[in-house]
Amino acid sequence: MKAIRVCLTLLMSVGPLNAALALSPSEQRGMTFAKTNCSQCHSIDPAGPSRLAEAPPFRDLHLMYPVEDLQESLAEGIRTGHPSMPEFHLEPDQIADFIAFLKSLE
Ligand code: HEC
Repeated sequence: MKAIRVCLTLLMSVGPLNAALALSPSEQRGMTFAKTNCSQCHSIDPAGPSRLAEAPPFRDLHLMYPVEDLQESLAEGIRTGHPSMPEFHLEPDQIADFIAFLKSLE
């Protein structure tokens, strides 16, 4: 039952652009998380600027460090040098999905 529901949710949420990118279920969940929590500041798309100019587009994070390095900070609570970014704590599953999504942008 659960798997069926997940598939339906995916089918409904996959727009033409995402279908073209052919994201895996894990990458798709990571993208949904990023869209909900991060996209008001960071660009989560393959192209285009962040809404908040100082926030690096997620597709550029791997240029600064291997995105796997974020695992620890996402679990412990990611804190950056900027006070405007809220602190986030993620569950291990969410982290795996989010990292998978970041890698799909590289
Ligand atoms: C309210 C705006 C805002 C939101 C929401 C936000 N960020 Fe940020 N984020 C920023 C800004 C601004 C920077 C640049 C900060 C700096 O250079 O000190 C940044 C930087 C980062 C960095 C780079 C940190 C580094 O190593 O320099 C990461 C990774 C990051 N954000 C992840 C996330 C994730 C993951 C989410 C969602 C769960 C998120 N951010 C949500 C504003 C935001």
